Amino acid sequence: MKAWFARRYGGPDVLCLEDMAMPAPGPGQVLVRIHATTVNSGDVRIRGCNFPPGMKTLGRLALGWNGPRRPVLGTELSGMIEAVGSGVVGFAPGDAVYAFPGMRQGAHAQYIVLPETGAIAHLPAGLDVHTAAALCFSGTTALHYLGKADVRPGQTMLVLGGSGAVGMALIQLARHQGIAVTATTSAPNLPLVQSLGATPINYRSVDLARLGQRFDVVADTVAASDFATAQTLLNPGGRYLAIAGGIREMLQSLRPGARGTRMIAGPAAESRDAVIALGRLASEGHFRPHIERVFPFAELPAAHAHVDSGRKRGSVVVSVID
Ligand SMILES: NC(=O)c1ccc[n+]([C@@H]2O[C@H](COP(=O)([O-])OP(=O)(O)OC[C@H]3O[C@@H](n4cnc5c(N)ncnc54)[C@H](OP(=O)(O)O)[C@@H]3O)[C@@H](O)[C@H]2O)c1
Repeated sequence: MKAWFARRYGGPDVLCLEDMAMPAPGPGQVLVRIHATTVNSGDVRIRGCNFPPGMKTLGRLALGWNGPRRPVLGTELSGMIEAVGSGVVGFAPGDAVYAFPGMRQGAHAQYIVLPETGAIAHLPAGLDVHTAAALCFSGTTALHYLGKADVRPGQTMLVLGGSGAVGMALIQLARHQGIAVTATTSAPNLPLVQSLGATPINYRSVDLARLGQRFDVVADTVAASDFATAQTLLNPGGRYLAIAGGIREMLQSLRPGARGTRMIAGPAAESRDAVIALGRLASEGHFRPHIERVFPFAELPAAHAHVDSGRKRGSVVVSVID
């Protein structure tokens, strides 16, 4: 089988397509033939050793000093069960699935072995393989932060970065929870953000400090603001979600802000329950990742280059099968 390897940190040119031994599922494991995966902001952060401020040393300690310790990147996928190990009861060869290896990675390959009790679920009827491949990275992040923010129906939320994968997931999943959402983006993406049910704001022409509006939650997906600056945007008791924050935000989040405001930061939990919930939400029409482009597997480095631009809209999918 073939897989894309990042054996050192750097630009998309460090990626090499290599042959590797076909993995075999052990007891309790399943072998998935991957049909589609994504290249997301997490993949390019790891490939480029481009971690949030203050996280570089920690990132290299956790993920590999001179290059990724797990050189096959890729956090999410859809595909088909090819084989199962002994004791597997929940899946059988031929089952269509989607999965979230998350920080275990390995989805930029033709096959992957996963534990059947991990973040893997049957593909809900009516969901195409590209959409299914793009559910989990953005969706689990949005669900994690909405849960931590303890959002309630009738509350208001400002999303900074409404046209990114995480921003678009936040808009849809918050709207489903009865939250009125306003979201920033640039002029070309205003209609896209509006189509999701958010009130769009062009961040290049509107000064948020002069908006004259306050929100129960400010979800900052692009480090466009900070907790101190966001005070003018927060209602008393409001929450600032530093989704793209680093070590400073994690430390600051230990202390409450003025007027009962608080900051929430840190890595989103990777949960099997969230992955299953996202499939249900997608099949019910409450969450549909926007797929901007689909790259063939052979052009995965071009997908990295596109995500590196910081301008992608929603998700970039890679089709692994012809
Ligand atoms: N804490 C966690 O566990 C966790 C999990 C997942 C992701 N993240 C982080 O969350 C961040 C966002 O991830 P993502 O996948 O959503 O990124 P992404 O899809 O690559 O974001 C690209 C989008 O950001 C928009 N953007 C850039 N600068 C902006 C600004 N100043 N104001 C408003 N929009 C802006 C761009 O829109 P324009 O072209 O219109 O500017 C573009 O559509 C990343 O830093 C990622 O590392 C954290």
